[in-house]
Parts: sequence; C-alpha cells; structure tokens
Amino acid sequence: MKIGFAADHAGYELKTFLIAMVKNRGIEIVDFGTNSTASVDYPDYAHPLAIAVESGAVDCGIAICGTGNGISITLNKHQKIRSALCWNTEIAALARQHNDANICSLPARFISENEAAKIVETFISTAFEGGRHQRRVDKIKN
Ligand code: RB5
Repeated sequence: MKIGFAADHAGYELKTFLIAMVKNRGIEIVDFGTNSTASVDYPDYAHPLAIAVESGAVDCGIAICGTGNGISITLNKHQKIRSALCWNTEIAALARQHNDANICSLPARFISENEAAKIVETFISTAFEGGRHQRRVDKIKN
C-alpha cells in the first residue's frame, strides 16, 4: 500500500507525526507538502494529492488542514475523489464501509495526535462493503 499525504500550514505538524507513524508500519508514502508551518493555501496541496489518487500513483490519501473542510472541499472537486472529513474512528470506518472514501481528511486543530493516529489506522484497514453502498456511490457522479 502507498499513501499520499497533503496538508496546509495548520496540518503540517500532524502530517509529520502521521507520516512517521505509517512509515513505522512499513507503509510507503508520498508527501505532497506543505513542508513547514509558513502560511500557504490548501488547494495548492490538495490538487496534487487528488491527481495522484485519481491516477493510481497512490492507493489512498490523508489530507489535513485546520478544520479539514477546506482541503476536503477542494479534493471533492475531482470526479474520482471521495474525501471524507473524519473526526473519530466511527466516522472513518463508515467512510470506508459505506462511501468507499479514498481520502481521509482530518481537522488538525480539533483532534489530538493520538486520535488522528487511530482514525488513520481505522481508515486504511477498513474495507468497502459494496452491495447497496456501491449503487449509491455509483450515483454520486453528476
Ligand atoms: C488556515 O488558517 C485554515 O483556514 C485552514 O487550515 C482550513 O481550516 C480551511 O478550511
């Protein structure tokens, strides 16, 4: 499995923490930045991650900004992206089981590192249930 990461300045520190965590588990990562706490614009980091997930260059993504909303809204402009804002493990599990989410967006200013780690572990280890959920996912495209 290869995971892409993207964050703005508000998510930079959490991104650094999570990258170390997944690397420790032997998972390959691609880091799309940002690479400091200097103020940046989240779309500049969201779009490259979205393109990588859409093309299959990475299997899924973790995206982080202050609320998780700005980066998630941007990612979801891409047709093949289903980015879910995940603030606890239950939401993360359901985002995979029911929505086949391919990017987990995190609100860095509202969750702890420990909570974020559990959310990411849940997101990457939970399978899509298919069935009636596949029919609904197929209807998302406009
Ligand atoms: C940056 O201050 C903040 O606006 C951004 O990280 C994010 O929360 C936007 O949705």
